[in-house]
Amino acid sequence: MRKIFTAIAAIAIAATTASADEGMWLPALVSQRIADMQAKGFKLSAEDVYSINQASLKDAVVLFGKGCTGELISGEGLLITNHHCGFRQIQSHSSVEHDYLKDGYWALSRDMELPNNGLTVSFLDRMDDVTAVLLKDITDETPDRNAVISKRIKEMETSLRDEKSGIEASVEKLFYGNQYFLFVYRVYKDVRFVGAPASSIGKFGGDTDNWMWPRHTGDFSMFRIYADKNNNPAEYSKDNVPYTPKRFFKIERRGVKEGDFTFIYGYPGSTREYIHSEGVRYVGEVSDPAKIALRTRRLEIMQRYMGADPRIRIMYAAKQASVANAWKKWQGESGGIARNSTVEAKREYEARFNAWAKGTKYEGLTDKIGAKYAELEPYMLAYEYFNETVRACEIFAPKDKDYYRPIDEESTRAMLNAYYDNVDAGLRPPYFNEAVSSCGGVDGLVDAIFADQAKADSLYARSLGWVKSDLLKKVLAINGSINTLYRNYMRGQMEFEPDKAFYPDANLTLRVAYGRIAGYEPRDGVYYYPVSTLKGIIEKDNPEIYDYNIPQRLRDVYAQGGYENVPVCFIATNHTSGGNSGSPVINAEGNLIGVNFDRVWEGTMSDIAFDPSFCRNICLDIRYVLFLLDKVYGAQNILDELTFVD
Ligand code: ARG
Ligand code: GLU
Repeated sequence: MRKIFTAIAAIAIAATTASADEGMWLPALVSQRIADMQAKGFKLSAEDVYSINQASLKDAVVLFGKGCTGELISGEGLLITNHHCGFRQIQSHSSVEHDYLKDGYWALSRDMELPNNGLTVSFLDRMDDVTAVLLKDITDETPDRNAVISKRIKEMETSLRDEKSGIEASVEKLFYGNQYFLFVYRVYKDVRFVGAPASSIGKFGGDTDNWMWPRHTGDFSMFRIYADKNNNPAEYSKDNVPYTPKRFFKIERRGVKEGDFTFIYGYPGSTREYIHSEGVRYVGEVSDPAKIALRTRRLEIMQRYMGADPRIRIMYAAKQASVANAWKKWQGESGGIARNSTVEAKREYEARFNAWAKGTKYEGLTDKIGAKYAELEPYMLAYEYFNETVRACEIFAPKDKDYYRPIDEESTRAMLNAYYDNVDAGLRPPYFNEAVSSCGGVDGLVDAIFADQAKADSLYARSLGWVKSDLLKKVLAINGSINTLYRNYMRGQMEFEPDKAFYPDANLTLRVAYGRIAGYEPRDGVYYYPVSTLKGIIEKDNPEIYDYNIPQRLRDVYAQGGYENVPVCFIATNHTSGGNSGSPVINAEGNLIGVNFDRVWEGTMSDIAFDPSFCRNICLDIRYVLFLLDKVYGAQNILDELTFVD
């Protein structure tokens, strides 16, 4: 009997440990998680992770641009992020004569580092809970509540901002406005491109492998932050000097294995873990499938032209990649929601919540939210359709140097027909409807706008005008009331489960996610090991296939022998999202073992519901970076700058 009890207890503990990998926690509150982190192997303290009194790991992590993460890896301002995060900069320095996208680039001296107008990196100085100050004397009944809060936020941000010293402040809503945090950043503006491997390494596998495991992408690039003589932010100047960070990562060369503790420190963009079953149903069964179908059509058209002409393939490479990126993510997301019966699981949760809520102020709340979603759905879907069809037609925004008219004409025809066929007349711009009838149908309208740019411009301007003044207004108004209900529902969920640790949804603020290196079982009978190696790159290598055609230099190095087991990528159970690209992957000792860059597509529903058996983040192994710098690019100057754990 005792044995059975012990076995049951063991299972219960195993189950809580596994699901506990869920969560993206606020660094300032990491003390609430540190015992669990340490129980799982972490060797450092909460103060080592986040401190306002001394240098801590947070000082080595930056928001790179407006949507990626990066980390400092030397005492002279050197940072590493993903190749896809630096893509635009790499592209902007490239020309036919110097194609850094194609060939890669490494600055072998400081004067070869290339400035990037508009690129910033932001260091988080501190984050503070400002809920009490911000909501002082405000109740749920305060008239114009949102406007009053917005005004206070503006004032707080403005009073802290100091352009000259690069201080920016932003107040962010957490838990649907049950909590507010202030984030103070120091923003550096002179950030120079140091180097990147060839795209055939940095984007190896292209869209074929994107969101997939096994993966072999060397997805990294390097930049250097420059400061004025006092180490403060400054506009670009040749007199600026490399920034001296408070903290940078040491590099661990001893490697990783299944089960090792991992910790991701970065800026996840957006998640919705606490939404109502109707919100999940809308995403998984309505919105994602509709958008996937539209993008399947667009991609089919683009790819047909790209496949027929290498010039067009280059022209449309970036557009195709961005259309395909979300397209594939949504397939994983809606597939995951269906596979896991997430809608049903949420309904069961709501039934339990409602039983508990009887007689409290939360009674009837989930029904109200459900009813609001029913009201929202037709408008929201019509709005999303407009964005995915009309707004996807390049003819309406024609100044792109990479524009190929036959693709756009065919795509516009397909998209405007889909818009007309799938969206009710009353939810389309009246001017659009009139234009269709006066041209004798959608095809006639497409002929007309492609014959006359002025017609295209006015059709778009007037359609967009109506969408903004009418449709979007309705969407925002209903969404506003949903969010007010959610503020209550969130509070209710916290009272309903007082022992559960809640983490706020991602909102592009700094978070800590911890887990461990682990494989997974994508489907019956198949197990994926968590580590990939150079041998796998050579297995995929094929000069005939664009996505798998590695540089000859890498083939030559491999042929020298002995490099089969160079580690390339690994997967782990950290809870990440878009924006975590480029995040440091940190081991139990606080040293750098990799760079985060993706998730496996079977697990992309983690933005809505995290499932520990399918959700894996994909990381570049730092040892592949070292191998490339050493053997393929001979960038000894970079290697000399790094500090290794001995
Ligand atoms: N899926 C990753 C992300 O969401 C990488 C995207 C870039 N790579 C690509 N093949 N499109 O950003
Ligand atoms: N590639 C994503 C990014 O650019 C990260 C992958 C994810 O969504 O987890 O942020």
